[in-house]
Amino acid sequence: MKLIYHGHTFLEIETGKQRILIDPFITGNIHCKIKPADIKCDYIILTHAHGDHYGDVLQIAEKNDATVIGIFELVNILSSKGVKKIHPMNIGGGFNFPFGRVKLTIAHHSSSTPEGVYAGDPAGVLLTSEGKTIYHSGDTGLFYDMKLIGEMNRIDYAFLPIGDDFTMGIDDAVKAAEFVNAEYVVPIHYDTFDIIKANPLEFKKKVESIGKKCIVMEFGKTLEC
Ligand code: NI
Ligand code: MN
Repeated sequence: MKLIYHGHTFLEIETGKQRILIDPFITGNIHCKIKPADIKCDYIILTHAHGDHYGDVLQIAEKNDATVIGIFELVNILSSKGVKKIHPMNIGGGFNFPFGRVKLTIAHHSSSTPEGVYAGDPAGVLLTSEGKTIYHSGDTGLFYDMKLIGEMNRIDYAFLPIGDDFTMGIDDAVKAAEFVNAEYVVPIHYDTFDIIKANPLEFKKKVESIGKKCIVMEFGKTLEC
């Protein structure tokens, strides 16, 4: 499996069988080096409907005839906007897709579309494929149930926001890293906008000080796992 980080919370996952995008925020994402028209994918998972996660989903879904996976209310809004293939889910539920299993977790945040329409609850994503498990927390504050997520899943890579203001800041994300107990932690959701400036190297240092491993992914770079 290959993981490509396009900045913010946009992650591209390439398995032997299929390509999956999480939160395809391209237009307005200063760290993203690709264009919506260049993207190839089979599935798109949205953690929630805010513009910096929803991103270019309509264009990408249409061009690739991709299935959009997400919270019931959100994917139904997408369906009403013309997205042909949706897969509704809700918190705590999992489903076995051809590429692997997706389970949605809680996330303490909010969720409305760029037009301001309520889009159900925000979510985090547990994705298991080819023997590896990824936890993408979505936008969230720190919550104690991350400990349960860590106890019930052997997580290889945990993608956690560190930008503060809208989500956890560095110190709360370090506590989250302790709770989810992943093999590697990767900081996300920082430096895209002025109000979420954060130093990923400070996060890495603090994560390492509690005996955990952290990878600061360069924007656009691929991680082989
Ligand atoms: Ni958000
Ligand atoms: Mn966000």
